[in-house]
Amino acid sequence: MGKLDGRVAVITGAARGIGRADALLFASEGAAVFVSDIDEAPLAEVVKEIKAAGGKADGLAGDVRKLEDCQKIMDQAAEKFGQINILVNNAGLTRDALINRMSEAQWDTCVDISLKGTFNCIKAASKYLMKQDNNGRIINVASVAGLMGNVGQINYSAAKSGLIGLTKTVAKEWGRYGLTCNVIAYGFVDTRLTAEKEAQEERVDGELVGIPKKIRDLMLLQVKPMTPEDAAKPVLFLASDDAAFITGQVLNVSAGIYM
Ligand SMILES: NC(=O)c1ccc[n+]([C@@H]2O[C@H](COP(=O)([O-])OP(=O)(O)OC[C@H]3O[C@@H](n4cnc5c(N)ncnc54)[C@H](O)[C@@H]3O)[C@@H](O)[C@H]2O)c1
Repeated sequence: MGKLDGRVAVITGAARGIGRADALLFASEGAAVFVSDIDEAPLAEVVKEIKAAGGKADGLAGDVRKLEDCQKIMDQAAEKFGQINILVNNAGLTRDALINRMSEAQWDTCVDISLKGTFNCIKAASKYLMKQDNNGRIINVASVAGLMGNVGQINYSAAKSGLIGLTKTVAKEWGRYGLTCNVIAYGFVDTRLTAEKEAQEERVDGELVGIPKKIRDLMLLQVKPMTPEDAAKPVLFLASDDAAFITGQVLNVSAGIYM
């Protein structure tokens, strides 16, 4: 028996990193998983990987900044698997710069993906989630930067902090359906987002992703980084029956970076 038998989960930002690990874990626990990401090729690999392991999966590429993409993702997921019970709003991107040097585009990109993208997905999934006894679960993905602030991340910190108010509002509005909505504040997870910037070859919209080596080395002096697989476990917990009455909460999964 899997912890998510019979459930349908939509996961955004699932082509790599934490979202990919969520998708593999959810499928291994019996969920039918509908994955999405802006990057089509690695997304298709995740679908293949889940199916090869005997799981149920399908996917559609899309940009969470666009409400029409989010609507297509949710409609196709519901059409394919009959319902949506779980939504993991995991897509995210950093665009770091000090306040005086941050461009309007960097601000907009970060806030639009993390904050507006989460709203878009929730709105697009509303007709599937606003149902009694649907075991509805929304898990939003924030960061300790949203709790404590972070130098060079005014856009990211503001967006991730905004997810906390958003989460509590969904928990209040949809609690009567038995739906829970929580937000995870991660610390340091080893993914493309936290990889050594200087060693990256790939650019996303013209900018390198990752963090400068000296900042990464400083973080490594403080904490042991989580793997994406480590990071996926609390997401499974919040999606499972074990967390049926936990809602509107910020779950700090940071190995003590912030406490
Ligand atoms: N890695 C960490 O230490 C850390 C810490 C705190 C929070 N987080 C959060 O965890 C989440 C997952 O990040 P990750 O570390 O796995 O990074 P990642 O870069 O490995 O994965 C993020 C995924 O989101 C996708 N994405 C980016 N923009 C998108 C868009 N507009 N529409 C759809 N998909 C888009 C990317 O293509 C990528 O596959 C993010 O929300 C991130 O902010 C990560």
